[in-house]
Order: sequence, then C-alpha cells, then structure tokens
Amino acid sequence: MNTHKHHTWAEPYKIKMVELLRMTTREERLEAIREAGYNTFLTKSRDVYIDLLTDSGTSAMSDRQWAGLMLGDEAYSGSENFYHLEQTVQEYYGYKYLVPTHQGRGAEHLMSQILIREGDRVPGNMYFTTTRLHQELAGGKFVDVIVDEAHDPQSEFPFKGNVDLDKLDALVQEVGADRVPYISLEGNVNMAGGQPFSMANLRELRAYCDTHDIPIMLDATRTIENAWFIREREEGYADKSVRDILREICDMTDGCTMSAKKDALVNIGGFFCCNDDEVFRKAQNLVVVYEGLHTYGGLAGRDMEAMAQGIREAVTEEHMAARIGQVRYLGRKLMDAGIPIVRPIGSHAIFIDARRFLPHIDQDDYPAQTLAAALFIEAGVRTMERGNVSAGRSPITGENRRPKLELVRLTIPRRVYTQAHMDVVAEAVCDVYERRDEIRGLKMVYEPEYLRFFQARFEPL
Ligand code: F0G
Repeated sequence: MNTHKHHTWAEPYKIKMVELLRMTTREERLEAIREAGYNTFLTKSRDVYIDLLTDSGTSAMSDRQWAGLMLGDEAYSGSENFYHLEQTVQEYYGYKYLVPTHQGRGAEHLMSQILIREGDRVPGNMYFTTTRLHQELAGGKFVDVIVDEAHDPQSEFPFKGNVDLDKLDALVQEVGADRVPYISLEGNVNMAGGQPFSMANLRELRAYCDTHDIPIMLDATRTIENAWFIREREEGYADKSVRDILREICDMTDGCTMSAKKDALVNIGGFFCCNDDEVFRKAQNLVVVYEGLHTYGGLAGRDMEAMAQGIREAVTEEHMAARIGQVRYLGRKLMDAGIPIVRPIGSHAIFIDARRFLPHIDQDDYPAQTLAAALFIEAGVRTMERGNVSAGRSPITGENRRPKLELVRLTIPRRVYTQAHMDVVAEAVCDVYERRDEIRGLKMVYEPEYLRFFQARFEPL
C-alpha cells in the first residue's frame, strides 16, 4: 500500500541500467516512413525515438526477473520453472489448470479450436483482432455485446467494458444457447480504449450464464489493470487489494487466455487456463501440435520464471498506481491542450480520436493511419492505428468495416519511459494538431489477407 503521504504516482523503483536511443532528423524519418509504406508496424525500431506502438512485450523487467532468467531450467520436459509458474497462476488467478503458450494468440488458437464448432456464435465485449480471427478460423462468428457507451469516445461512463445483457440475451434467443460455446470477456477492453468492466456487471453476467449453461472465458491480458479500476471506481472495493479483486474476477469465470506480454511484465509468453478436466486434456494435447510440450508451450524455462516473478510484481498497488498514473499524466496533458481523446482515460494507452482530430479526411482515406504516420514524422514517436485498417473488411460485403472508433493508440510500455518522455510526446501531438489542416489522407496499395494492419502499405493521396 502507499505508505507515503503524498498522492503522487512516482515510480516504486529506480533505474539500474539504460538503453541508448538514436536521435534522427526529420528528413531521415520522412525517408523511413516512406520506405515503411506509411505503416508504423513496418518501421524499424532504430528509427524510433519514443516507442508507443504497443505495451505488448515492451515492459522493462526488474532485477528479480533478470535474476530469474539464470534460474532457467531448460529441460525439455517437467521444467522446474513450469511448476513455479503453475503454482503462481493458481495462486493469483485461481484456475485449476494451466497450459503455457508462446503468447496470447497461441492460447486463443487452442481455446477456439477446442470450444467452437462450425456455425457457432461467439459473443464478446468488443473484438480483439487476433481473438476474433481465431474464432472465425475455428468456424465461429463474433457478435459484439459490449454496452453502447463503449463505441462513443466522448461518453464518460466509468465501465465502458461492461457486457450489455440485453444484447447477449437477444443473441441467445435468436440462435439458442447451444450455439453459443462461451462468452469471451475481456478485462480493460483494448479496442474500446482500455476500459474496464465492473464487478456488478460480471456478477449479473455470471447469473445469466448459469441459467443458460454458457461458460465465461476471460481474456485476462489486462485484467490486473481492470482490477485496479474496480478498486478505484466501484462501491465496496476501495479497501480491497488488487490481488483479491483479481481473484474475485477469475473465480467468477471458467477459464482464460492470457497474453503475459502485458500485465505480467515479460517480453514473451502466455497461457490458457481452465477448470474443466475434459477441456484441459484437449488443450494439453493440442498444445503439443502447435506450441510445444505441455510443460513449456513454446517458451524457454527462463521465460516462465520471469513470468512467475512478473505476476507477483504486477499484482501490487504500488506498481499499478505508477502504471496508471503515468498514462493519466500524458492523457491529462493532451486534454488540457484540447486534443480529442477517448474518455475516460484508460489503463494502457491514450487513444486519440482521429475523426475529430482530422475531420476533413474520409474514413476510407484512413485518418488514424495518416495521423500515426504524421506523429512519426514529427518527432519519431511510434504509435498504432486502431480504426478502419485494423477493423478489416466484412466477410459478407467485402467492404471496409468503417468502425465507429477511428483511433490512434499511444500505448505506454510498463516501467520504460520517464515523465519527460511523456512531455515530448504531448508536444509532438500538439504540434501536429496545429497544422492538421495541411494533412491529407492515405490510399492502401497493398493489402494482406489476414490481420491486414500489420503489413498493409500506403501512399499519400
Ligand atoms: N488479447 C488482447 C486483449 C490483446 O491486447 C492481445 C495483444 C492479445 C489478446 C494477443 O496476444 O499478442 O500475445 O498474441 N495485443 C497486442 C497489442 C498485440 O498491441 O494490443 P499476443
């Protein structure tokens, strides 16, 4: 707990080692973004000054995590680190069974293949790109059942990650509960701006799912951050620990997929968890085909050790206060400067509303992609599009999905950048905002078949 009397978000650690950055000129950055087809995913890390592309796998590990690497037991089978990870996950997340995977999408793949049958509908509180794709590849169809507020970047609703039970019930009435293999529930919904669900909503969802015999599968990727918001915003939780709230969430669900590259403070890793014996047996068997033996799932022993330690460090009030505090520091600076961002400020990123930032650019000319490129050119700040490019095409009409949210994500890695770095980012955004009228959109000149945002190429209009 915070034992200091000042309510600052100051970091509960000090810096032991630094990584040097390369400074570039505007001409160098212009050349770099042109070579990358105006897609920040295709730019080189060496050309980036402040990397806000993602909070995934970009955390700084602690001295204890680095020390843990030396404890790596690199045996093919039954590694000591697997049992340590298993015990840690059971303790903090509370599920009975654990299957490690190389990262989150490895777990999504296993779960989708095991639980989804051709023609099933999979409801979720908004989609995530890889999650939905794995559902579709397994023969399912994703159905959005998040509350309407989540699609409105200006709504101040404190729990925009909530499930709309009427939407869920409409689906169940339409297709029957036996065509709904599970509901996919994400903590701190990434695509909605890092917005939490409430415990009250989860409790109602649990009751509904019990009546209809539908399992709840959690996307636990940023659920420690969700627990922090429950502690801060929901009545009755102010005196509970993040650790207890996390357990309460997991205890109300039937299993999870996890990208440990976020909450768990590691550079690689993930897992699938469940309580059902039969599902576990299938996952343990399938992991051998796609990831590796069931006691390493594509990870080195040292990776599992770092993950176990990372979970312990993440589930603390001190860590979370600094984590969320830094994101809010940047968010408030941008709000004070009149920059349109998704409200309330979420946990892992600031999302700029590119529709309002560049209102003169049509959505099919990709305003968010355009803004991400402009920020890179301005200051070497690398961000990510989360709009029309990420949403992809409708499999039915073949048209761009034109989602309501057309966002640029400034994602903050954990324990990596300083307050002064956040000031640089804010200045860069403001400078681009001042000359926004001069900015023109982009046209897509190469479009890959799967998850197009990663490798698509563009040219200026
Ligand atoms: N679920 C959520 C909510 C995610 O944000 C991610 C990854 C995944 C699943 C997939 O996990 O990358 O380990 O395979 N999100 C990253 C991001 C890529 O930048 O938002 P993964």
